[in-house]
Amino acid sequence: MEQITNVLRVDQFLEDELLNRVIEQAQEYKAGLASPEQSLAFREELLGSTMFNLFYEPSTRTSFSFQMAAANLGMDVIGTESAGLFSSAAKGETLRDTATVLAGYKPSVIVLRHNQDGAAEELAAHSQGVPVINAGDGKNEHPTQALLDVFTIQESLGRRDNLRIVIGGDIAHGRTAKSLIKLLGKYSSNEFTLIAPQQTNADKEMQSWLAKMPATTKYAYRLTAKALENADVVYWTRTQTERGAGEGDKRFRLEPKHLSRMNPNGIVMHPLPRVNELSEQIDCDPRAQYFEQAANGVPVRMALLKLLLGKFY
Ligand code: NCD
Repeated sequence: MEQITNVLRVDQFLEDELLNRVIEQAQEYKAGLASPEQSLAFREELLGSTMFNLFYEPSTRTSFSFQMAAANLGMDVIGTESAGLFSSAAKGETLRDTATVLAGYKPSVIVLRHNQDGAAEELAAHSQGVPVINAGDGKNEHPTQALLDVFTIQESLGRRDNLRIVIGGDIAHGRTAKSLIKLLGKYSSNEFTLIAPQQTNADKEMQSWLAKMPATTKYAYRLTAKALENADVVYWTRTQTERGAGEGDKRFRLEPKHLSRMNPNGIVMHPLPRVNELSEQIDCDPRAQYFEQAANGVPVRMALLKLLLGKFY
């Protein structure tokens, strides 16, 4: 198994052995966090390490769960919310210069969220060996979200292959759906159905990489209970208005009636935040897993920090 030095793209986790290690480590952390003694022991694991949290875009879950994950492992956290406003980017500094300067302070890891596609790769290219974690770059990737999504699927359904996965909402401008598909698309037994209006469904470029994946992909342009028939996973996403996706189509609001034909033991997921594309009436359906999914961000990000900084093997 190759030792990874940055978490930039989800394709770094295509090897089953590595993915299993992350999932197993996260399971161990999740179980251990329920015990005060074990939680205290975890606080020794990365004591003396420092995480820089550099967020140029709004975030609640990713930012807080990374900070909580670092705190749970005994790390110090230094960060800025709204780095676009409160860092020197506001004065016109390039990401490359920011990387060089921050690397000079010798943090153990830099977690970056940025509005530009490829920003994490750019930062890593100039971070002088300081590990970089991509916490979402533009409409490109969100690898740590995909890992916590797969962790949630594995924990709820006991498998990550042989699944019927329906993904809806804004597929073209969102990064979470893309990263999840890239990670689970390697299993030929998985079948994706992408449900969205034409303007937010997979564009030509995405359709061509989807066609090359071992998993099967179908497209639907209307939300009906029939389209969700036998789905093991229903993964809904919000319209990315800030990325030019338009207003969002009210006909794609997921309601309890749409879940009538999905697998009764399946799960409903959403990376959150939700706006109005997911009815709150679904919250009390036992299949709704989105709040648990968000909570899983802590143990999964602990596992990733440990993978990069600790003795993992
Ligand atoms: C997502 C993101 O930032 O891409 N949020 C998250 O990290 N859970 C989804 C979104 O903003 O729609």
